[in-house]
Amino acid sequence: MDTALLESTANFLVGPGRGILAADESNGTMTKRLEAVGVESSSETRREYRANLFAMPTMAKAISGVILYDETIRQNAVDGTSIPDYLHARDIMPGIKVDTGAKPLACNDGETVTEGLDGLRDRCMEYFQMGARFAKWRAVIRIDDGMPSDACISTNAHALARYAAICQEQGLVPIIEPEVLMEGNHDAQRCFDITATVLDATWEACAVQGVHLPGALLKPNMILPGKAHAVRSDVDTCARMTIDLLHNHVPHEIPGVVFLSGGQTEVEATAHLNAMNNMGPHPFQLSYSYGRALQSSTLKTWAKNRDNVGEAHEVFAHRCEMAHLARSGSWSTDLEV
Ligand code: G3H
Repeated sequence: MDTALLESTANFLVGPGRGILAADESNGTMTKRLEAVGVESSSETRREYRANLFAMPTMAKAISGVILYDETIRQNAVDGTSIPDYLHARDIMPGIKVDTGAKPLACNDGETVTEGLDGLRDRCMEYFQMGARFAKWRAVIRIDDGMPSDACISTNAHALARYAAICQEQGLVPIIEPEVLMEGNHDAQRCFDITATVLDATWEACAVQGVHLPGALLKPNMILPGKAHAVRSDVDTCARMTIDLLHNHVPHEIPGVVFLSGGQTEVEATAHLNAMNNMGPHPFQLSYSYGRALQSSTLKTWAKNRDNVGEAHEVFAHRCEMAHLARSGSWSTDLEV
């Protein structure tokens, strides 16, 4: 294992003022997103949207890495070069989603285990040769009556750790993503307790597999009440509870935490990260790996006028700038137009 390469990649990804753009929606998810804005989904329309997104002139100020899907890493950018080469040329590291999705967990109705370990070593080798330098694997944990089960927590933690070890062996920094979903009517304390249990199990499994933590990143959910819960958390409460969780349930050797947005609005996800960065110092960088919270308004704008990508670039540039400011706690509501 090349620990120096892994550490330098991980530190690059959470370098000052920058974070990750998650553009690794599977074809199924991307089809839903495109159809919701009235665009037919095809390999070419998915390429057109993403190639234009990656061509936003100031993107590298806020984005250190982009997570790609298998289809996208094989496609071309606006200038005809391969997307991974195009990103490298802009000082942005290409990454790749390597799991094959959350599948029903046997004997545990309603729960899932994320699959994709079969053949993973070979796929990592190929992705590294194509230019990828980091990877993502998303485990999905649902809170409900009697959920998550011990089986769900332990199988997903085991798979995350095995994935992380294989990636590191092949020179890819693993983003370890055990997502506790926002769906449900649980309160914020239950989200905290479940997330803490899931993280503890994940680190235990990583220790068994020999994962090198200074060469890995964590992608967690923030601590929020379920979407259906009657009481909403204010920004300060979410930030304090999330910080409390991270300081006590994340090994301090991890160089960075890159949050998912998980269905928060663009402004909510920005405000929460900003508040956390104002509550430092922290033992690790606090950054983003947002999908919807960086892309939602851009996708809508692009779909309205695909011949004028300048408008979509303006919207994306704004979200990038807001996320960039949140990295140093310098964002404020009045910057949102
Ligand atoms: O795995 C989840 C995505 O990479 C992040 O997407 O920010 O829309 O939750 P999200």
